[in-house]
Amino acid sequence: MNVDQASHLRKIMAKESRMTVTKKGPVHDDGPRVFSITSGKGGVGKTNLVANLSLAFSRLGKRVLIFDGDLGLANIDIVFGVRPQFTIAHVISGEKELTEVITEIRPGISIIPALSGDESMSELSESQKLTLLSEFETIENLFDVVLVDTAAGISTNVIYFNLAAEECIVVVTGEPTSITDAYGIIKVLYGHGAKRFKILVNMVSGLDEAKAVYYTLSQAAERFLKGAITEYMGFVPADAKVRESVIARAPFLEKFPESQAARAVAQLAEKLAVSPRRTDLDGNIKFFMQRLMRVR
Ligand SMILES: Nc1ncnc2c1ncn2[C@@H]1O[C@H](COP(=O)(O)OP(=O)(O)O)[C@@H](O)[C@H]1O
Ligand SMILES: [Mg+2]
Repeated sequence: MNVDQASHLRKIMAKESRMTVTKKGPVHDDGPRVFSITSGKGGVGKTNLVANLSLAFSRLGKRVLIFDGDLGLANIDIVFGVRPQFTIAHVISGEKELTEVITEIRPGISIIPALSGDESMSELSESQKLTLLSEFETIENLFDVVLVDTAAGISTNVIYFNLAAEECIVVVTGEPTSITDAYGIIKVLYGHGAKRFKILVNMVSGLDEAKAVYYTLSQAAERFLKGAITEYMGFVPADAKVRESVIARAPFLEKFPESQAARAVAQLAEKLAVSPRRTDLDGNIKFFMQRLMRVR
């Protein structure tokens, strides 16, 4: 063990002993809550939801970190019209500190570009994992909410991001293929031990369609995946302002704050903000990172 690792371990131990004290009370200051936003099929609105949820959370006074787990395609940076230079890979290689990689894109909203599809957080060496973990400990108290924008489908990173997050939000639209693919990703995550899923229905005409989509998906999940819980989270209507805002490279909460989609997202953020934590440990960024990298 090298000097860095030893001091890192001491830090963890000191922290653990503090934690046992704070854990006794009902109030927990366990760092940010981590929500992953995922889907079976691409193009269902994940990235736009993450970007706009981040704004909605920040309006509730929350400090938000967006963990961009879907690099390389039209993504968070595009929605916000920014271009971060560095990714977590620069932290892993030691070229940058985490705080240099995290970019504040709006007051109270920061973004961290994660890794591209062919790089896996689980395949890092032990010392790389320790470096990354101790870097993440330095930012633990800087955020209240972490939103993870995943790629669509079932690559290793997507599975790990979803398993590591406190809550996994599955975005689904009214298209039959989207419902089938949402069931597909739920099934894969269930196969890895995940049991609870929040279902967010996007691009529907209204509550009736949203409920119908949710019902179809939850029926399948609860029937074939024993013990799986699919919780209806809400819906965002199909709204032409979303596309307009994408073209304008500004989130719709900024560009069209009175639009139906903006109101719906604001409500969803309020709902998430007051939803109970699953356990004391679950929402914590450190545990998120540990699980992400499968550190034992
Ligand atoms: N609520 C909505 N109403 C209308 N169009 C939407 C809505 N949500 C997303 N879209 C459209 O879907 C496109 C894909 O969204 P995006 O967030 O990039 O999906 P994903 O990240 O899941 O691939 C957007 O460019 C936008 O045109
Ligand atoms: Mg996306």
